[in-house]
Amino acid sequence: MSTATAPGKVILFGEHAVVYGQPAIAVPVGEVQARATVEPADAGQGVVLIAADLERRIVVRQAPDDDPLAHIVRLTLERMGKPPDPDLTITVTSSVPIARGMGSGAAVSTAIVRALARHFRFWLAAREVSELVYQTEVLYHGTPSGIDNTVIAFEKPVYFIKEVGWEIFWVGKPFLLIVADTGVVSSTREVVGDLRRRFETEPDRYSPLFAEVGRLVTAARVAIEQGDLPSMGELMDRNHRLLQEMGVSSPELDRLVGAAREGGALGAKMSGAGRGGNMIALVTEESQSRVEMMLRLAGAVRVIVTEVR
Ligand code: PMV
Repeated sequence: MSTATAPGKVILFGEHAVVYGQPAIAVPVGEVQARATVEPADAGQGVVLIAADLERRIVVRQAPDDDPLAHIVRLTLERMGKPPDPDLTITVTSSVPIARGMGSGAAVSTAIVRALARHFRFWLAAREVSELVYQTEVLYHGTPSGIDNTVIAFEKPVYFIKEVGWEIFWVGKPFLLIVADTGVVSSTREVVGDLRRRFETEPDRYSPLFAEVGRLVTAARVAIEQGDLPSMGELMDRNHRLLQEMGVSSPELDRLVGAAREGGALGAKMSGAGRGGNMIALVTEESQSRVEMMLRLAGAVRVIVTEVR
């Protein structure tokens, strides 16, 4: 039996603008995890994948081409030069909340790739894991930037530019983030598609917003490397305002962002696709419990504290 895990993630800066070529920064969140277990099965069974949380049992040889879970199994077996339908049962569980901008799809796919590689004693570099997972992200999200699979496969903070490249970078001083869930499910594919349509109708309105986000992300990277938490907080606030102007925030997100600031967070913003999902707040050890309380009072359904280092 071979088991592997993968963390969730949050986007710290630059979501949406990243789809249009601007940089973005994402960090792994190890407090939530996807886990995959691969076990040999009876002869003739083929690959069966059990996604307990989704109440799904997938017979891979019968699954349609666009089923992301079956797809990642097929791609990984092909990459390792293995027969397409070995007798294996793959069980997947995950504590990464689904459709909340925490990369649940990429985390589950990454855990599956890693568990299969472990089972066959095949070594896949993090870069290869990321590339395989990207191909299933396309099925989930349409036109993903690739940031989720990168940060989850490398499990390090990444500075990312779509189709240009990415870098893992140093965090000057570890910092605490609170990730708070609005409880509202959001579809990345829909929000990205909606913004795309609005951008195509009014490029002159949206291009400057994306460019402004790009400048801010560059400054944020410097602030993170220097351990300058007050500047980071300020940049998070500015990034949230720009996301509001893009029309991807929501009343629930704005309420939580306001509550975090009232509680004494250094900065706060929505994270990920928006219109629901999670927001993040930068806190210190002193402000953490007060911000947490304010977020719960403002309706957060789940609050995770994670240290980024
Ligand atoms: O909600 P998430 O974490 O899947 O993030 C979406 C981030 C976007 O920038 C909106 C889209 C993308 O592909 O990067």
